Amino acid sequence: MNDYFGHDEYWKEHMNESLEADMWIDEYKSYFNTGGLCLDLGCGMGQFTKRLMEYGYEVIPLDISEIALNKVQEFNSNILKADMRHSLPFHDETFDLVFANLSIHYFSDDDTKKLINEVKRILKNGGLFIGSVNGIKNFQSIKDTAEVLDYHFYLNRVKHIRLFDVDDLKKYLNIFKVLKIDEREITRFEKNNSCLLFFTKKQDFNY
Ligand SMILES: C[S@@+](CC[C@H](N)C(=O)[O-])C[C@H]1O[C@@H](n2cnc3c(N)ncnc32)[C@H](O)[C@@H]1O
Repeated sequence: MNDYFGHDEYWKEHMNESLEADMWIDEYKSYFNTGGLCLDLGCGMGQFTKRLMEYGYEVIPLDISEIALNKVQEFNSNILKADMRHSLPFHDETFDLVFANLSIHYFSDDDTKKLINEVKRILKNGGLFIGSVNGIKNFQSIKDTAEVLDYHFYLNRVKHIRLFDVDDLKKYLNIFKVLKIDEREITRFEKNNSCLLFFTKKQDFNY
């Protein structure tokens, strides 16, 4: 697999673009707990890290990109450089919330399943896994350049991308209790993307 993100190509390409934060989480605030320990998985420039800190969480912002983490360090010193395709460097049942905005849709089927199992492992029982992924409707915008690698998984120019429909998302998240899945347009770099928002809970016992 190429390493577009590991070589920081994404943030070299986008760092000067306007990242007007689309704070969709504010509309779903009732799904979040009132604090605790949170992992912001693929935190990027950290606009959600910042908001989750305002919600009362202690946040660990994790990303593969040094450019992004240097920016996040300006307001959060817990930054962690790691590759989420590998085991997540945390003990079992550490987090109250794992948050992932547009950051877990780049991986093969195996890596995606492994990652989601890792998220479950590091969440406390009753902990939340909340985030968003690119929706299959975005295929329209890549159809002329994307090479199909697997079902709903593409190499688009230099970047791997997985697009989800609701059934795909339910299948990957079936180890959690799914509280809600919503389709929504998220504005990013002044473009609208069709996304699926997910709200799930780790619920192993009678919680
Ligand atoms: C579309 S950006 C989203 C960033 C941020 N969550 C936001 O909402 O703006 C995807 C992020 O995932 C990170 N990323 C991609 N692959 C990764 C990997 N294997 N391990 C850790 N981070 C990764 C990228 O560096 C980038 O910051």
